[in-house]
Amino acid sequence: MAFTSSEDNDLALATPPDKIQHPISGDKEIKEYSLPSYFTSLSVADLKVDSDLSETDNSNSDSAIETSDDFVTVSARSRQFDGLEGNARTYHRFKEGKYHLPNDEIEKSRLDLQHHLCCLAFESHYLAPIENLNGGLHNVLDFATGTGIWAIEFAAQFPDVVVVGTDLSPIQPEHVPVNCHFEVEDAEDTWNFAQKFDYIHGRMLVTCFQSHLKVFGSAFDALRSGGYIELQDASFPFLGADDRWNGSAFQHWMKLLMDGSKALGKDWNRVPRYKGYLEELGFVDIVERRFNCPLGTWAKGKKNKVLGTWGRENILSGLGALSMMVLTRGLGMTVAEIELLLVDVRNDINKDGEQSIHLYAPMFVVYGRKP
Ligand SMILES: C[S@@+](CC[C@H](N)C(=O)[O-])C[C@H]1O[C@@H](n2cnc3c(N)ncnc32)[C@H](O)[C@@H]1O
Repeated sequence: MAFTSSEDNDLALATPPDKIQHPISGDKEIKEYSLPSYFTSLSVADLKVDSDLSETDNSNSDSAIETSDDFVTVSARSRQFDGLEGNARTYHRFKEGKYHLPNDEIEKSRLDLQHHLCCLAFESHYLAPIENLNGGLHNVLDFATGTGIWAIEFAAQFPDVVVVGTDLSPIQPEHVPVNCHFEVEDAEDTWNFAQKFDYIHGRMLVTCFQSHLKVFGSAFDALRSGGYIELQDASFPFLGADDRWNGSAFQHWMKLLMDGSKALGKDWNRVPRYKGYLEELGFVDIVERRFNCPLGTWAKGKKNKVLGTWGRENILSGLGALSMMVLTRGLGMTVAEIELLLVDVRNDINKDGEQSIHLYAPMFVVYGRKP
């Protein structure tokens, strides 16, 4: 099968829809998170600028994260790195140079923070209807699993299910549930799993592959008939909700990231095309949900402020990770040039109240069933 047909199309930037219905119905039990009431009762993506600056939670403090302390389990493991030094960060050793973000402790902490952000945004570890799957849920794959935090929590939630996590980097913890294990694999190689999977999950992989279509095709083949694929991702470029971000360092940085990643053979603007890829591959009952995560506390509503606080932390702790390899190798920028740029980008992200430039990350969940 050829996997190039729809990947090179130009695509308009993802724009926020007026209103998005949250997919979790009111009567669904959220098993894995005990969410505050303002989470389950609000639409996720209704981003309205909060003009009432007297609200105390519109400050730039970490109070919203403190509100969500129950969800924070970032661990400080002291393990030997499996990484290569470069730009003061470490990168994966297996298939060196393929993936452009680091695999060091800073990045691992960010990935765990991002995991909690996703669980808060989607209010679940998964949205595909896998609980009452015909034939049952026995084998689950989380490809490009990162620290494995999703796989570990999913395995704990479903102790009778075998969960496999794969990644280029062996950065997962040693002590994990007995029904969970990890393998070092390149998801762009041929998949050679002995078992067929009932559910395949891939999250935050927009920056990873030369051909997402090819990888999703491997997932199609590795699923049993009736099994589900689910993709959860943030779509680059991150955007401004109005014209206040025009001319900002953040907007300039986003453009550089898109150009740099393209120069390195990756297209970070593919997430809005995932649904089309699944259609092209033969998946059925495909559902696409769109969410928007504010970066900062500028959007109205308690949930948006909590998400925005996490979103801002995530992007701030990812500035160097996203930039260093992509802008040095992709665009030939020097580390000093990048650091200078990131000072202004950081300032843009940290602007709050009336100064805020209303940044947000478009997020997508797409799932479909193999007929
Ligand atoms: C942004 S992280 C997301 C991790 C995890 N899915 C999550 O949501 O927490 C991307 C991960 O994909 C892995 N990765 C990148 N390219 C890969 C490839 N070709 N095969 C396997 N893993 C890959 C990276 O090592 C990294 O751990």
